[in-house]
Amino acid sequence: MIYLDNAATTWPKPESVYQAMNDFARNHAGNPGRSGHRMAVESERRVAEARERVARLIHAESPDQVALTLNATDAINIAIKGVLRPGDHVVTTHLEHNSINRPLAAMAETGFITLTKAASAPDGTTPPEEIRKALTAKTRLIAVTHCSNVLGVVNDAAAYGSLAMDHGALLLLDASQTAGVVPIDVQAQKLDLVAFPGHKGCFGPMGTGALYVRSGLALRPFREGGTGFAAEHEMHPEEMPYRLEGGTPNAHGLAGLAAGLEFIEREGIRKIGSHERDLALRFIDSVRRLSRVTVWSGRAPDRQIGPVSISIQGAEPAEIGARLDREFGIACRPGLHCAPGTHRFLGTFPKGTVRFSFGYFNTAANVDEAARALAKVLGD
Ligand code: ALA
Repeated sequence: MIYLDNAATTWPKPESVYQAMNDFARNHAGNPGRSGHRMAVESERRVAEARERVARLIHAESPDQVALTLNATDAINIAIKGVLRPGDHVVTTHLEHNSINRPLAAMAETGFITLTKAASAPDGTTPPEEIRKALTAKTRLIAVTHCSNVLGVVNDAAAYGSLAMDHGALLLLDASQTAGVVPIDVQAQKLDLVAFPGHKGCFGPMGTGALYVRSGLALRPFREGGTGFAAEHEMHPEEMPYRLEGGTPNAHGLAGLAAGLEFIEREGIRKIGSHERDLALRFIDSVRRLSRVTVWSGRAPDRQIGPVSISIQGAEPAEIGARLDREFGIACRPGLHCAPGTHRFLGTFPKGTVRFSFGYFNTAANVDEAARALAKVLGD
């Protein structure tokens, strides 16, 4: 299998991730923070290590500002539901994943909030100026993706951060496609809330994720329960990160996530990002020569990372994806990619596009093989 679906989840993982999870499950899998015996203590140490490495990845003030979550959707829901108040206005974009779209749409439908979608540019970025134009006196939150999961083009997070700060609003950055691939510095970029999964660019397993919350910002939790901390109190702890966590965490997964983040530290995030960009641009360069292909990605080449979407005149994305899998052993993702607004923006709704998303373990040979396979499927 040539796996080109890294925007959905990265595969394979670094060998050290498999080893860490195996070792954890066999030798250390006590309940973290819940008991005093050595397995529980070791388990807690692995969870703490994951939290510390996440904090280091994004330059958080402290690991305490990182809540460990189930995935990016979980983190985004905690953020949105934890900060918004009745009557607030939110600015978002047309290029969001349903993880941002749906919680906001549900709140807007009941009249709890009002919502404005800022205009995006043809290259797939949302210019900060368009966000600025959408701000009102009631804007409490700007909720925006760092990089469209359909197009793979990276937005200017620092410009959004400054804009939000100047306006007295909060910025929630969905870093689902960029964490582990593009440098993020929450302090230098003035980011209030950053949500991301552990199983994509961070090389952890599914069922892991994180929410960064700027220090001094107190979110209303919607999950209360056991934390292994301050158990004598009737009320859920107010301290971060326990404030936003409850119940036994996915410590098996977090042991893997810690190993994935260690791998990124060893390799270097810039090397990882530029490898993905090189592969994506190589693929774009090849397939744009095919007669029926429209390439939607790569219109801002210096901002491109792994995900590349294309349309094929006269062909269904689902059928192309199925043929690439069946006849050539190539894994890609056709359809809407849980981002219907992006496809309305491109004019590719409701069938969507065929998305090839390149990861650190892909090679130039994989790219060339995928381009050749596509040419054969199209009869070029
Ligand atoms: N959100 C993931 C994707 O883009 C699953 O495919």
